[in-house]
Amino acid sequence: MAGNTFMYAQNLHKIYRKNAISTPVLKGVDMEVAEGEFLSVVGASGSGKSTLMHLLGSLDKPDVGEIYYREKRIDNLSADKRDHLRNHDFGFIFQFYHLLPELTALENVMIPLMIRSSVFSWLGNGSVARKRAITLMEKVGLGHRMHHLPKELSGGEMQRTAIARALIGNPALLFADEPTGNLDEDTGREIVQLLRELNEIDNVTIIMVTHNLEIARGTHRIIKLVAGHVEVPLQQHPEAFGVVRPESFDNLPEDENHPDETRRPAGI
Ligand SMILES: Nc1ncnc2c1ncn2[C@@H]1O[C@H](COP(=O)(O)OP(=O)(O)OP(=O)(O)O)[C@@H](O)[C@H]1O
Ligand SMILES: [Mg+2]
Repeated sequence: MAGNTFMYAQNLHKIYRKNAISTPVLKGVDMEVAEGEFLSVVGASGSGKSTLMHLLGSLDKPDVGEIYYREKRIDNLSADKRDHLRNHDFGFIFQFYHLLPELTALENVMIPLMIRSSVFSWLGNGSVARKRAITLMEKVGLGHRMHHLPKELSGGEMQRTAIARALIGNPALLFADEPTGNLDEDTGREIVQLLRELNEIDNVTIIMVTHNLEIARGTHRIIKLVAGHVEVPLQQHPEAFGVVRPESFDNLPEDENHPDETRRPAGI
């Protein structure tokens, strides 16, 4: 893992306002992720994990604070530049997959490249995109399911499809918001194994929200959101992937590992 700071956020504040009600969610979050790191974000339900991911991923803007990516400030970019960043540098995976139901798995994977292209360039490069989508479907173990609709896929297969879709733009930074939250334990482990391979082999930096501490312990580092802040770091670049488990993890409350059926959609 390289040591340079890849993305960092300073003093992030986010308040949701609806009618006369203000909900302060983030109250001064400082965090960073190094290039090549696999970082977990944990915290109680409602602590602002998804909110933080949306800010870091340029899906939403902070009320106060700054976000830097590759040493450039990104929270104040124009809408066009933010779109460009999301389409070219970032990938997103969500708990509920967000696949388009009327498209096949393969077509879903190709969507981000279609959005990127003009009609003209799509006509020229569509077959290249298709080949890349097929390669990615094979990489995530779904070479035999490419022409299935989402409703014909299992949860794990839908999440693999969503991972392939997130990778089609060749992202440097992957945001995964509870990617295993809707899957059984074994399937969840397989998905995390796939993410670990992407991190280790393809050097994709990953920020993953999870409620599953066993899964979080298998990543390089964990940060915890508490009362709108990042709690004092629990772990600083330990021996990777849980070979040695730092003592500090034993202090994490187990009750956050709540059952999947109590989960609500991830807010997108
Ligand atoms: N668009 C919104 N408008 C108003 N309030 C919101 C909005 N999105 C989130 N919130 C509130 O902000 C708080 C943090 O939400 P967020 O989704 O970031 O939490 P979370 O840590 O991801 O929770 P979970 O683990 O349940 O997914 C919650 O109290 C939620 O109700
Ligand atoms: Mg959430």
